[in-house]
Amino acid sequence: MKRDTSISWQHRNPNTLDLNGLQVAIVGGTGGIGRSFAQDLARQGANVTVVGQTFKDQSIRNIRFMTADLSSMAEAKRVAAELPAETLDLVIMTTGIMAGPKRQVIAEGVERDLAISYLSRYVILKAIAHRLGVARAEPRMKPRVFVMGFPGSGQKANVEDLNSERGYGRMKAHMNTVAGNEALVLDAARRYPQIDVFGLNPGFVKTGIRENLFGTNRLLLSIIEGLTSFMTVKPEVYSERMVPLLVSPDLEGRSGAMFNNKAQAILPSPAIANVSMTGSIIAATETLLGKI
Ligand SMILES: NC(=O)c1ccc[n+]([C@@H]2O[C@H](COP(=O)([O-])OP(=O)(O)OC[C@H]3O[C@@H](n4cnc5c(N)ncnc54)[C@H](OP(=O)(O)O)[C@@H]3O)[C@@H](O)[C@H]2O)c1
Repeated sequence: MKRDTSISWQHRNPNTLDLNGLQVAIVGGTGGIGRSFAQDLARQGANVTVVGQTFKDQSIRNIRFMTADLSSMAEAKRVAAELPAETLDLVIMTTGIMAGPKRQVIAEGVERDLAISYLSRYVILKAIAHRLGVARAEPRMKPRVFVMGFPGSGQKANVEDLNSERGYGRMKAHMNTVAGNEALVLDAARRYPQIDVFGLNPGFVKTGIRENLFGTNRLLLSIIEGLTSFMTVKPEVYSERMVPLLVSPDLEGRSGAMFNNKAQAILPSPAIANVSMTGSIIAATETLLGKI
């Protein structure tokens, strides 16, 4: 992966940050990476709303839970309407699954991975972008949105078949979500100048994200997890590296930047950074949403 070193980023100790009063929403903050972010940010004083299905952090005073099944776009719209967008400083989007061996479709007719890992984020961001942070008393930075995916990896979307209706493969379907999230960042950076939007590529983090990949074949899953374990880090380790970046003043006005799992800036995928390709992915997304 090529690196853009133009952003001078100094690592800081996440435990010495003063995040008192910072208002954060983590869509996908109930598990894995999002949960570690929520715990670290809350520990440093931020007020965090986590959106997801299963809440496990009742014991942490400044984490509040909003339940939602984000395989439904109606639910995504409800979440967008109910989030306190006007007072938020930071939105982090980590909701995700991986497509399974057989195409799964949600009630609204969308392939399940695309719906949860990409489309729900698109729907939420589009609905809240203009309200984000507008009612904050003393803003310490422009409102920020971080979109987690696999940016910079060169993956392309099949814009003719974003919903995998004509042909299905689990990796092909998942790559539509990867490319979609990268396009979401690049498009939002141009479309919403009043906020800063960034992409995050976590590399390989030890979470349950791959559980659906092989269906009921748990043996294959554990073999793959075992073989790749040398490449994976714990979500707590990744979060500790990234939390200082999320609130760094260095990011001000750098909307559209993407970061790897060491909090270093990376270049976007050339195929997606091309304005017409970003536009094609967004157009295909709008067409799909128009059918729901
Ligand atoms: N882990 C990696 O190696 C890796 C690598 C590259 C990219 N990523 C990306 O990083 C992001 C976070 O992944 P992760 O590894 O932290 O995954 P994870 O541990 O499986 O967590 C996924 C999160 O998404 C939520 N979620 C899943 N289905 C949902 C639904 N139907 N409705 C609402 N929430 C739902 C989960 O909430 P509940 O548990 O409450 O359902 C959980 O909070 C994803 O976008 C993933 O693609 C991860």
